[in-house]
Amino acid sequence: MIDIHTHILPGLDDGAESLGEAVAMARMAAADGVEALFATPHVISGAYENDAEQILNIARDLQAVLDDNGVTVRVLPGAEYYIGRDLPEMCASGKALCLNNGKKYLLVEFPAMQAPTYTEQVFYELRLQGITPVIAHPERNSEFAGSPALLYKLVSNGALVQLTSGSLTGLFGRSVSQTAREFLSRGWAHFIASDAHSSRGRTPVLGGALKAASSVIGEAAAKRLVYENPLRVIGGEDILTGTMEEPGFRRSIKKFFFFMAK
Ligand SMILES: [Fe+2]
Repeated sequence: MIDIHTHILPGLDDGAESLGEAVAMARMAAADGVEALFATPHVISGAYENDAEQILNIARDLQAVLDDNGVTVRVLPGAEYYIGRDLPEMCASGKALCLNNGKKYLLVEFPAMQAPTYTEQVFYELRLQGITPVIAHPERNSEFAGSPALLYKLVSNGALVQLTSGSLTGLFGRSVSQTAREFLSRGWAHFIASDAHSSRGRTPVLGGALKAASSVIGEAAAKRLVYENPLRVIGGEDILTGTMEEPGFRRSIKKFFFFMAK
């Protein structure tokens, strides 16, 4: 498996607090069957102002330590950008770090409670540069969860979706789990990643989520989200997208049958 979203680099954000913790996280990932993981520290103006060069250097240093300690996980560079009007300009000026230091996939996070009104414009400007935004864990965002039509529109226009493994395994509660499964079953999800912050709590494992996703969309489709699609990100290729179901319809049918059964 390949994990496209982790906070494994020590000291850059609210993830790994030390080099020892980063090594422990990598060992845990390897034991779970993860071959490679992207180090994606937060980049948030005024909070975590990590620049690309710093991330590249620290990822390289961590890889050397893992190699010296016999931990067989490949560390790939990336970052998780907080949505802002300045994102297209950051990319155009070469300041932003796309996944694997390529020029194709940018991991973008949102405020927990909303999606800013300028989101569509920002995504449009990114796509003009050939950059595909990957929306980090929309199942944990109350606006996307409450108004799935907005997420559907963004994905229809070319954005990709990363679900967090803990959302599928119930770490964030029943409501988040149901939303994640709904996005998955409607064909709106393209990656499952850990968003790991430590070796306890939000850990760098994907096996449980792969099993949960397999029960919703089947094993072959679920594996695409933890292996084939991440592999294509590494190679800078287009990822595999399937048929998308429109929002709303299935839920209203369920409600109808529930009403009839009463
Ligand atoms: Fe994250």
